[in-house]
Amino acid sequence: MWHVVLMEPQHSGNLPPNPAQVDWLAWHADYDDPNSRLSERLAAVQRRITEALDQSPPGPIQVLSICAGQGRDIIDVLASHARRREVAALLVESDGRNVEEARRRAAEAGLGQGVTVLEGDASWTDAYRDAVPANVIICCGVFGNISLSDIESTIKALPGLSAPAAVVIWTRHRRRPDVTTLIRRWMEEAGFLELGFDAPEGYFFAVGSARLNRLPDPFVSGHQLFTFVGDGSRPA
Ligand SMILES: C[S@@+](CC[C@H](N)C(=O)[O-])C[C@H]1O[C@@H](n2cnc3c(N)ncnc32)[C@H](O)[C@@H]1O
Repeated sequence: MWHVVLMEPQHSGNLPPNPAQVDWLAWHADYDDPNSRLSERLAAVQRRITEALDQSPPGPIQVLSICAGQGRDIIDVLASHARRREVAALLVESDGRNVEEARRRAAEAGLGQGVTVLEGDASWTDAYRDAVPANVIICCGVFGNISLSDIESTIKALPGLSAPAAVVIWTRHRRRPDVTTLIRRWMEEAGFLELGFDAPEGYFFAVGSARLNRLPDPFVSGHQLFTFVGDGSRPA
């Protein structure tokens, strides 16, 4: 795998603005209620992550989490997964309080060096330069908080972060206009074969899982994937 550098990386470790002044620590509070809709979504995401790890070929597994929050999805799965010692996970999150919480949770789960939580801007590919190509990419809570054109361009860029046969797990709410059909089509056009699409009746959330079904693209550093504009009010 070769890397293309378009420009000197300037964004790794830098923090993005939070114009909406959203309290992203408070956003996670619903996870503490096991009956909340966000917890139902988390369970669906965790099932897809478990499936991806279970089906990974023998050997090291590189995981990336884009806008990782407190990392409850991957950290909680790794805590009891048989392949946990083979996983190197990079979680990129901009809110320092969530970064601390993710690090605390990873340490509590005994994951040690296997989980790195980077406090930085996940919207620039520079953040991922030390963790590509990735076998599992978690893009949860992102597509509901960026523009439609950014969703499309982020999806187009995913093969550049991917290892062969990488699995991408994504979420998006289905409030009107429901754009999950578009997202699934863009994933297919980018070369991903859908493994699952969880859209339970009575819930707004959807969780998609798809495997790269073509050769990955080269990694491009210095590329902006999206601008995070949402306020998290539509758990995505
Ligand atoms: C909707 S939450 C989702 C968190 C987590 N992925 C989950 O599903 O539980 C979005 C998260 O993205 C973080 N965030 C927003 N913009 C970011 C950026 N440019 N880079 C890294 N993290 C960002 C927020 O701090 C927040 O924790």
